[in-house]
Amino acid sequence: MAIEKTYSMIKPDGVANHHIGEIIYRIERAGLTIERMEMGMVTKEQAEQNYAEHKGKPFYDGLVKYITSGPVVKMVISGEGAVAKMRSLMGATDPAKAAPGTIRGDFGLIMDANVIHGSDSVESANREIGIFFN
Ligand code: RTP
Ligand code: MG
Repeated sequence: MAIEKTYSMIKPDGVANHHIGEIIYRIERAGLTIERMEMGMVTKEQAEQNYAEHKGKPFYDGLVKYITSGPVVKMVISGEGAVAKMRSLMGATDPAKAAPGTIRGDFGLIMDANVIHGSDSVESANREIGIFFN
C-alpha cells in the first residue's frame, strides 16, 4: 500500500453530540496523520458537489439539507492506505448495521445522522479535498 490522502468530515450530529475528540483520538491511534482541519459550515454548493454521484436518488435532497444543517469538522488525513483505513474506522453506512467498535457503530443514530463522511477512493479524495480546501 502507498501513502494516501483522504478527505473526512465529522457530520453535524457528530459535532452536536460531542464526539469530535473521540473521533480524532481514534484517527490518530490508527496511525493516521491529520494534515488539515477546519470547523465550519458546508455551503449548499459544496454539498451538491461532494454528493454529485447521488444526484437524483430519493435521499439526495435530504442529504444536502442535512450536511448543511450545522457545523462540521473538515479534515485532510494522510497515511498508509488512508482511504481504506478511514472507511474501516467509520464502519457501514447504516449505523444500525455498523459493527461495534466502529465510529458509526458506536455513535451513529440513523442513515442521515451517521456521524462521519470519508472518501471512497483516492480519486474521490482528491476531488473532495479540492471542494473543501483549495
Ligand atoms: P459518506 O459518503 O457520507 O461517507 O457515506 P457512504 O460512502 O458510506 O455512503 P454513500 O452511499 O456515499 O451515501 C452518502 C450518504 O447518504 C446517506 N444515504 N442514505 N436512505 C438511503 O438509502 C441512504 N443511502 C445513503 C447516508 O447518510 C450516507 O452517508
Ligand atoms: Mg460516499
